[in-house]
Amino acid sequence: MKQSSTTFGSKFGLVAATVGSAVGLGNIWRFPAEVQANGGAAFLLVYILCICLLGIPVMMGEFALGRGGQGDPITVYRRLSPGKPWWITGLLGVLASFTILSFYMVVAGWTLEYLISSITGSLYEHVAGTADGSNAQFAQRMSEYVASPVRPVLFTIALILINAFVLIRGVQKGIEKMSNLLMPVLFVLLLIFCCVSLSLPGAAEGLNFFLNPDFSKINGRVFLDALGQAFFSLSLGMGTLITYSSYFPKDTRLGRTAVTVSMLDLLVAFMMGLVIFPAVMSFGLQGESFEGATLVFVTLPEVFAGMPLTRLWSILFFLLLLVAAVTSTVSLGEVAVACLHDHFNFSRTKAVLTVMAPLLVVSPLCSLSNGVLSHITIAGQTLFDFMDNFSTNILLPVGALLMCVYLGWFAPKGFLRRELTNDGTCRTFWSAASQILLRWVAPVLILLILVSRYL
Ligand code: TRP
Repeated sequence: MKQSSTTFGSKFGLVAATVGSAVGLGNIWRFPAEVQANGGAAFLLVYILCICLLGIPVMMGEFALGRGGQGDPITVYRRLSPGKPWWITGLLGVLASFTILSFYMVVAGWTLEYLISSITGSLYEHVAGTADGSNAQFAQRMSEYVASPVRPVLFTIALILINAFVLIRGVQKGIEKMSNLLMPVLFVLLLIFCCVSLSLPGAAEGLNFFLNPDFSKINGRVFLDALGQAFFSLSLGMGTLITYSSYFPKDTRLGRTAVTVSMLDLLVAFMMGLVIFPAVMSFGLQGESFEGATLVFVTLPEVFAGMPLTRLWSILFFLLLLVAAVTSTVSLGEVAVACLHDHFNFSRTKAVLTVMAPLLVVSPLCSLSNGVLSHITIAGQTLFDFMDNFSTNILLPVGALLMCVYLGWFAPKGFLRRELTNDGTCRTFWSAASQILLRWVAPVLILLILVSRYL
């Protein structure tokens, strides 16, 4: 095991890369669908609570582990607690990164297809048997596309190759450079969409749904979904942020960085709510199916079709989605790459190719499980759904639980405090609070929420 000597080149780059990991399809594709499924503003409130009480402390914990342990998740646990089985937690993380990547690459591939078909205009071409600009038109296009055996597989492979390209270039020249460029683009695009959506006639009704809570809607299920969403959206629970923070310089203030990253991630989700709900209400589409996948790939094209400059909005939006997706998949890939690099001394290129090769098999299978392979099921779900649910609802919370228990109770004495305060030089409210939260509150809450699924 060698000491990792790579670091991010600048503070901006460090935050951009970490926000790039956090901000992804989770914010843009999953978050509005969760809000819709869980009754609107009430979910938003619970979500904010989950981010503050659990998300930020767990993120600080991952940062402490990564920067203190200097390596990929497995190396970190082995270095901090040699001879103990805690490294298995790291191994679970590396496996989880594969599970998530396998279905995430497929959805990322859809975004590229939608971007290209917005550019060529074929997304808005007539679909036989449906009225132009109707929900049916885009629903049909989406379901045909997702289930078809060739194009989605090719686009999934294209995304895997894009990821390989960035990862091979390394931490500063690949990940950091890409994030420095793309994250500002993402925020500008999102801002443009917020302005457009809020100026639509009837926007207020959408805002009301998104921002005016109905407390009777809050129940155990809402908590479970909000927690799962918070972990997924903040990239927690499986060592992505352990890996990234091993590239943080020693003087990085971990508490402040965790708060900044979490708030920016929340901001993107919130802005996406401001885009989606007013647009959907304004076009009177709220009664239509709003389920995860269909939201951005069906409902939004329908909105764009009803607006002037259809193609322009469509191109900008799918570009936004693609940017968000790529900066996240790269962070997921980096976990296993770092692991091979640290442990087996693989060169970066060899490590990247070793990680991407199995994905080239599994991701296309996930894609095909939406179509020709849909009859093959695991626990009653297609491979795609299984990978999604298993990683989000089980692997991430279990990984986070083990990590909290480790940091709260089993890590070397004083480790967490030393890391969070940079050896006592910067005491902050967040570092003090998160030590208590990680030790007592987070494990209990995560456990409760996990167990409540089975009651
Ligand atoms: N956070 C990303 C999103 O919102 C996805 C992601 C990247 C992720 N790395 C992760 C999710 C690690 C869980 C764990 O889309």
